[in-house]
Amino acid sequence: MDRNQDLKDRREATKLGGGESRIERQHSQGKLTARERVTALMDEGSFNEIGQFVEHRSTSFGLEKNKIPGDGVVTGFGTIHGRLIYVFSQDFTVLGGSLSETHAAKICRVMDLAMKNGAPLIGLNDSGGARIQEGVVSLAGYAEIFYRNTRASGVIPQISVIMGPCAGGAVYSPALTDFTIMVEDTSYMFVTGPNVVKTVTHEEVTSEDLGGAKVHAEKSGVNHFTAGNDIEALQKVRDLITFMPQNANELAPSPTKFEFNKSKLETIKKILPDNNTLPYDIRKVVAAVIDDNSFREVHEDFAKNIVIGFARVEGRTVGVIANQPASMAGVLDIESSRKGARFVRFCDAFNIPLLVFEDVPGFLPGTDQEWKGIITHGAKLLYAFAEATVPRITIITRKAYGGAFDVMNSKSIGADLNFAWPTAEIAVMGAKGAAEIIFKREIAAAEDPQAKWLEKEAEYAEMFANPYRAAERGIIDDVILPEETRAKVIAGFKMLENKVDTLPKKKHGNIPL
Ligand code: HXC
Repeated sequence: MDRNQDLKDRREATKLGGGESRIERQHSQGKLTARERVTALMDEGSFNEIGQFVEHRSTSFGLEKNKIPGDGVVTGFGTIHGRLIYVFSQDFTVLGGSLSETHAAKICRVMDLAMKNGAPLIGLNDSGGARIQEGVVSLAGYAEIFYRNTRASGVIPQISVIMGPCAGGAVYSPALTDFTIMVEDTSYMFVTGPNVVKTVTHEEVTSEDLGGAKVHAEKSGVNHFTAGNDIEALQKVRDLITFMPQNANELAPSPTKFEFNKSKLETIKKILPDNNTLPYDIRKVVAAVIDDNSFREVHEDFAKNIVIGFARVEGRTVGVIANQPASMAGVLDIESSRKGARFVRFCDAFNIPLLVFEDVPGFLPGTDQEWKGIITHGAKLLYAFAEATVPRITIITRKAYGGAFDVMNSKSIGADLNFAWPTAEIAVMGAKGAAEIIFKREIAAAEDPQAKWLEKEAEYAEMFANPYRAAERGIIDDVILPEETRAKVIAGFKMLENKVDTLPKKKHGNIPL
């Protein structure tokens, strides 16, 4: 026997996974195979597979006669834009990509290597869940993965791409990772599927409506990015990774080249409407400050009253958190607080400076919010900012009212620099409400209470609906013109480049979950 030829033959056989017909089925659904996905994700020719001959050891339900080398998952390492990356890619053509003991062990192996060598881990998920024939050992396999996801959290970036079914407890691995990307129409995630839902709650719902990409992007927030197809999803990963460092001890890479169209210094002056009650799109302000075309919005369709995403300033990654006056007046509520907090923590864990744009009328009032715990959820954002030790700059464009002012990266909770535009209004509350409370008696005693109220409202607005009371007290560092913002941000982050700030020694904090 020609042993070299034998190896080549064996390698070829593993490439077929569950066989031609199942590969065809995968393709007919618009899905790539596990190996095609890895090829599209990694730099050309850079992928090194580990464990391609691993087989399961189960003898239940005739499985001993159904052994396929690799056992339904392709694992290994390679590069993306020249940087070391670990990957696992589940192969739906092999027993539905189901997770056996050995399949789990292969995933754990690359996770362990990623941790030891400080490099990001990318999981391409396409699986029918726990391998039913194996029972509890496959459940334990999932738990081994969850354990490693948790231990790796905040040490190396972890990205999950959902490219097929992801059901049962299997959803918790992606949930423990930093970002989830779902492919439209071919992926879904749920703890219990439509059949169980029907039995338990009598609801009739399709997989798509229960846990498709759109639902998780808009309603639950489980999905951070939606892609039209497999290739688009993998390209998003390649792009996203350029904003992140390899691990928590490093800085994100700085592309040397960046562009900034100077005409944005003109357009930025005209973004805010003259009437301070009218909305505008904060993303226009963000775009006018950062490098051209560098914004990558995260959670674009979820809790639109806050905008978050990665951007670059002179080629360096920053994390942007911005109230969005174009959605619910930019008010902070439960979902926007959760959304903002998680992103702040990712950035802080991975040494990404924070750039905050503030225009917030306050927290959303009402029984719905109070009963669902806006106190606890709002505190998440407060906690996340207060805990962050990375360089932090805030720009107040317009409203900065009440507790929301404190929460949105104020200096008193550790922001390094806090600037306000001349249009900023920094006060305990809006002038109308404030006048009603503090001038209550005067208004009641007046001949024309309505006119008195308006007069007092104007008085309060004159006093506080500007940035100068805050500037007098040093609560903000400077009042700046909109067109000066980029220069101030660049100078600020340069000044903060070597910032050292550490938290008190502790096991871990207790963020209000
Ligand atoms: C073993 C499985 C499997 C599984 C699918 N297959 N899921 N084999 N264990 N969990 C096999 C099928 O037998 C079939 O084999 C092949 O994969 C393709 O499956 P189809 O059903 O033909 O594909 P499709 O019609 O596309 O349906 C996909 C599916 C369905 C919706 C995922 O297969 C399904 O409902 N599977 C079971 C899902 C599930 O209940 N899993 C356990 C969840 S509990 P052949 O040989 O015909 O190609 C769980 C707990 C995790 O995961 C807990 C962690 C804490």
